[in-house]
Amino acid sequence: MRVARSIGELTGLRAEVPAGHRVGFVPTMGALHAGHASLVEQARALTETVVVSIFVNPLQFGPNEDYARYPRPLETDLERCADLGVDLVFVPSVNDLYPSGRQVSVSAGTMGTVLEGAARPGHFDGVLTVVLKLLNLVRPQVALFGRKDAQQLACVQRMVVDLNLDVRVLGGETVREPDGLALSSRNVFLSPTERALAIDLATALERAAAQDTLTTALGAAHAVLDRAGLDPDFDLDYLAAVNPETFAEVASDAGGEVLLVAAAVVGGTRLIDNATLHLR
Ligand code: PAJ
Repeated sequence: MRVARSIGELTGLRAEVPAGHRVGFVPTMGALHAGHASLVEQARALTETVVVSIFVNPLQFGPNEDYARYPRPLETDLERCADLGVDLVFVPSVNDLYPSGRQVSVSAGTMGTVLEGAARPGHFDGVLTVVLKLLNLVRPQVALFGRKDAQQLACVQRMVVDLNLDVRVLGGETVREPDGLALSSRNVFLSPTERALAIDLATALERAAAQDTLTTALGAAHAVLDRAGLDPDFDLDYLAAVNPETFAEVASDAGGEVLLVAAAVVGGTRLIDNATLHLR
């Protein structure tokens, strides 16, 4: 496994990839867990050369968010990548990706301003700006993103279409703890009591997914979330049924496949999750 710690090193190592090899790319912010690993395995199955980036992107964090305390266990992450058979890890510095004087960035449009984007203004613009830069540097044929961050995946897919990018973007299934909690690098911030409360987010979505109308699905989810909300450490931010591609909210009589997305702040830690509803 090779490690590129600057754009210059990456460019050199990228040039060494044999011409016939397809490149699969998994962008991450590190603190790698089994969710990241599943994306790497998917990339390995599809492409000859697998590249992972590890970069905590300041542009996608709001001023009062957890940029400074975001976990950065770089040595463990590199060992994990080596164990997973990653070919190349790109670990750029902030100065490398954002030298001073930078002016141009990507806008996610309206779909970047709703739900997660409403709670985190500028977040998806920051995500798309770094993802576009990384795609331009790594030049993969395939890039993998988790469905856990469904709005991020939708925004990236929309950027590929709207900006005519030559890359195939694929979504990976959400990897969960045995009790259902979606794996997240932020789960380390949860105390044992907050960890117990956090499960309710997944439970609510799972119960909703077993229903076959939107009204009963929302009712089933709210039954769990309202109970969880009695605890002052559990604050529901939103529960919404959306079109998984546009993130526009769907009408109450919607049928077919609808994405139910939810976010809650549990003891100060923001958690998101989603489930696909198969409606009559
Ligand atoms: P990060 O949170 O590190 O996630 C990297 C990738 O792993 C994302 O595509 C995310 O959706 C996926 N992922 C996270 N938890 C997962 C889980 N439990 N199961 C499956 N996949 C999961 O998302 C980002 O970083 C950043 O916004 C990034 C795209 C790297 C841009 O900075």
